Amino acid sequence: MMLRSLPILLALTSAGLAQDGGQLYTTYCSACHGADGKGATGGQFPPLAESPWVQGDPDRAIKIVLHGLNGPVEVAGRTYNLEMPPQGAAIADDQLAAILTYVRASWNNASPAVTPAMIKAAREATAGRDKPWTAPEILKLHPLPAAAPPIANLISRIYPGEWQDLPDFSKLKPINVEEEHDGLISVSHADRKELVGLVWEGQITAPKAGKFTFRLDADDCARVIVAGKKVAEVRGIGPLNGSRAKQGQIQLSAGSHPIRIEYVEFRGQEAIALAMKGPGIPGWRNLSDSPVPAEKPSLMIRPTPDRAVIYRNFIAGTTARAIGFGFPGGVNLAYSADNLAPELLWTGDFMDGGRHWVDRGQGNQPPAGERQVKLSGARALAEGARFRGYKLDPAGNPTFSVQLGEQFLLDAWKPAGSGATPALTRTLTVNGQGSPVELLVCEKLALKKTGDQDYELGDELRLQAENAAFETRDGKTYLKLSPGKPATLTYRWK
Ligand code: HEC
Repeated sequence: MMLRSLPILLALTSAGLAQDGGQLYTTYCSACHGADGKGATGGQFPPLAESPWVQGDPDRAIKIVLHGLNGPVEVAGRTYNLEMPPQGAAIADDQLAAILTYVRASWNNASPAVTPAMIKAAREATAGRDKPWTAPEILKLHPLPAAAPPIANLISRIYPGEWQDLPDFSKLKPINVEEEHDGLISVSHADRKELVGLVWEGQITAPKAGKFTFRLDADDCARVIVAGKKVAEVRGIGPLNGSRAKQGQIQLSAGSHPIRIEYVEFRGQEAIALAMKGPGIPGWRNLSDSPVPAEKPSLMIRPTPDRAVIYRNFIAGTTARAIGFGFPGGVNLAYSADNLAPELLWTGDFMDGGRHWVDRGQGNQPPAGERQVKLSGARALAEGARFRGYKLDPAGNPTFSVQLGEQFLLDAWKPAGSGATPALTRTLTVNGQGSPVELLVCEKLALKKTGDQDYELGDELRLQAENAAFETRDGKTYLKLSPGKPATLTYRWK
């Protein structure tokens, strides 16, 4: 079949008709480099698809095809050590021009056409060559094009500040602006690694039009905005381990689009990871110097419509003996039995049990939802106070019990709003006789009085308080409770 079609092909050539590069590629190259350009026999041969060797300066590929290639060669991160036999004698100038034009315009390759005159010139210039090239020889003559940075024109801005969530950076002034020539976002470049916000801006390229997916993970929180639209967001304080990673999609036209990444590091470890995928991009393209961790199996723990659910395992952001409560309607609480205090409140999803399903020993699981508020991280009551457990009402709402000498403090929680207006009500009662009990309600969160019984608590919450007198000292807010006079606090997200 092939033997008979070849003379016809040659006849067409001599008649001066245009060569079909795809057809000739199948004849002369695909046995080794694969019909899809990815390397024949499952990638045992090097790929021509997205190979930098075939892009840019055409002489590199021309010379390889004319005289062959021998010895170690690295293509797209993998080293091959094979031999490609010379093809120059078998393929005419216009045929080779058509093949390389086809190769350079196929499978996400995007380099200009190769003309028969270029082939002719290369043949003449290398006429004395009688053995295959080695990769270093070729690279010395024709270096590989520099890889385009993942994010073009990338700049970073540094903002000092103590945030547990993303602030409005447009209202803030950076202390430092830098160009990031490697085009990758990275926290390791920043000279400030705690209590800091970072904003990166640059342009990404969509090789083709279509839907692109962005995957983001951060320690602590981050948001990615592409072409002016928020695509993914990781909120609150927590680790970068895949369990909090978020993904979002956006439709993009082919070409360049602005990207903006906002990031906050509170305390402890710091890291950010971002990757994109979509049409024309093989697999994930990293936009950060660290890759985004793979997804963990998700096993969301949910309350039923009329009963709260409990999570008794390590919760990130609070102490080891914390008890999580997910209430119907998407309001959640983590109570620390070590500190005798509610420490975390959040909305939306409760906890993902995937990590701790099999065993207890794999680190802390961060809350699965959003708008997390850390009320405090210190002991709420004086030394000597002891946790005595909790009781549940028929709806699964807890009342925590703490003993202080002869007295008992009862700390009862129930949902007071859901969905778009999430809220939790807390009723605090001191039983028995004796002196008032002083209790820490929050630290590091500003409590601002806005009405008779109304307060603003930090950025996220409003607090409605009945029978409650607060006192703030050294950034900590306390509540004084007299025996037999319950106080009610309602935490409502703004
Ligand atoms: C008999 C198998 C075979 C054929 C046919 C063949 N090649 Fe190759 N090619 C190879 C091998 C093997 C290498 C790697 C050599 C090494 O390890 O040094 C290679 C390397 C290359 C490279 C550089 C590395 C890369 O992956 O980009 C280019 C470019 C290339 N070939 C183009 C072609 C073109 C175009 C044709 C058709 C005209 C062709 N080859 C035909 C086996 C072949």
